[in-house]
Amino acid sequence: MELRQLGGAGISVSELCLGAMTFGREADEATSKAMVDRFLDAGGNFVDTANVYSDGLSEEVTGRALKGKRDQVVLATKVRFQSGPGPNDVGLSRRHIRRAVEASLRRLDTDWIDLYQVHCWDNRASLDETLSTLNDLVHEGKVCYLGASNYTAWQLAKSLGIAEGKGLTPFATLQPEYSLITRDIERELLPLCRSESLAVLPWSPLCGGILSGKYRKEEDLPKGTRGGDAEEPITFTYKLDDRAWNIVEAVRKVADDLGKSSAQVAINWITNRPGVTSPIIGARNLEQLDDNLGSVGWQLDEEHWKALAWASAFPRGYPYDFIEYADH
Ligand SMILES: NC(=O)c1ccc[n+]([C@@H]2O[C@H](COP(=O)([O-])OP(=O)(O)OC[C@H]3O[C@@H](n4cnc5c(N)ncnc54)[C@H](OP(=O)(O)O)[C@@H]3O)[C@@H](O)[C@H]2O)c1
Repeated sequence: MELRQLGGAGISVSELCLGAMTFGREADEATSKAMVDRFLDAGGNFVDTANVYSDGLSEEVTGRALKGKRDQVVLATKVRFQSGPGPNDVGLSRRHIRRAVEASLRRLDTDWIDLYQVHCWDNRASLDETLSTLNDLVHEGKVCYLGASNYTAWQLAKSLGIAEGKGLTPFATLQPEYSLITRDIERELLPLCRSESLAVLPWSPLCGGILSGKYRKEEDLPKGTRGGDAEEPITFTYKLDDRAWNIVEAVRKVADDLGKSSAQVAINWITNRPGVTSPIIGARNLEQLDDNLGSVGWQLDEEHWKALAWASAFPRGYPYDFIEYADH
């Protein structure tokens, strides 16, 4: 697997990051450990979890899976969502971040977190409070680098400005939702990250599994899949509109042409988008992981790029269209 620099951070990460959201949930501990080993054997060195995945179990399983291998891995986790029963066990306050980082270090059974990410914008905590607390964690050696996830462009730009103005450690990475189906970050966030040299770590590169091509338009979503098992189908299936089905079909055609799987084509596409550092791949078992690991080491040709661009085109809206027009 190719190594890429983690934005402005002075370290290298593999071009695929292994997501641990399924650990302790769809994947039991033995399967999760086997997936970590397979990923490391394939040259991967980057693993992403969060304090809230499976109520902390994902971090625990990840920590045990990395026993004796911790030094080989760039380990990322997150803070922001509800981590306990109290009204203050949530958010990006000094109190919650400080308590959450200690709990994550304990569960991960490690002395340090390589990349500590805020999981989502928090309307309650001021950026000054959040950024100065995160900066302290860096200086205390508990975390090496900072990242943001699920921020809008103004929120990220403001954070970078405050960090620069106050001499605080800036975010080195952004973890946004990004796939052939969900390309919204191409309007603002991706250009911002490229301009400010932030690493971009797309989550849900298969749009939760849709881009693997396993769902069929006229059929119910099968049980034993994220889509079929979702308690609130709307959170999963709202993207299954005509545009999404057209993209699934275009990906399938490219895959058939190349003798690859749909998942491999969709992940290859995102791994090679300008500005992307490492998409975070998710899997419930070794078969899926092996499939997804086959997404690197080859290139889509011009004709296939065009077919995918055509199928996944989306309205840019104002003022993006206006600015593009002004340049012609
Ligand atoms: N920052 C955030 O807010 C945020 C949000 C979500 C995820 N993440 C991170 O991003 C990682 C990846 O997200 P994701 O799991 O949503 O990624 P994804 O790649 O879009 O979806 C992964 C799911 O798709 C299905 N799948 C994967 N490979 C497949 C294959 N080859 N063939 C058929 N089905 C396949 C599996 O689900 P089924 O088998 O159940 O269908 C798998 O769990 C997570 O582990 C987490 O680290 C972050």
